[in-house]
Amino acid sequence: MLEIRKDGDPVLRQVAKPVANIDENSLKLAAEMIKTMYEADGVGLAAPQVGESIRLVVYDVGDGPVTMFNPVVTDSEGLLECEERCLSVPGKYAFIARPETVEVRYLDRSGRHCKVKGDGLLGRCLQHELDHLDGKLYTDLAKEVFTDERAKNSTERAKNPVKEKSR
Ligand code: NI
Repeated sequence: MLEIRKDGDPVLRQVAKPVANIDENSLKLAAEMIKTMYEADGVGLAAPQVGESIRLVVYDVGDGPVTMFNPVVTDSEGLLECEERCLSVPGKYAFIARPETVEVRYLDRSGRHCKVKGDGLLGRCLQHELDHLDGKLYTDLAKEVFTDERAKNSTERAKNPVKEKSR
């Protein structure tokens, strides 16, 4: 399992470099990231979160693992406020407004051009992970960041009883 970098680590604030070659090394890193994501019970992980400042994201919103090289948001619509968490910001959460639906283009493990359009958990996950590639954390967008301790008694929590997984 790879070490997940925590808020305060400078690598999380760097703008990650594009992946020039999808080769043995980058595919091995992606496979290790997927394993780390599952072990940490997350739905997504970006390479900077494991100390590699490259544009690589993995996620699994329930349909199996997906690996994205050099992903870019190409379209978005709507606006929705949702709870977000992050494996790099343990024990915290916030309610973040973002576009509801996004379209993302990326290269898959074989270097093929792919496109995914997502709303709900997928749309949220894609935007959260792609932000990591630009050195951004969800806490940058938060009006207020809550801790899990406070969450136990908060009315917001009562309205959102489903525990969101971290990204
Ligand atoms: Ni995150």
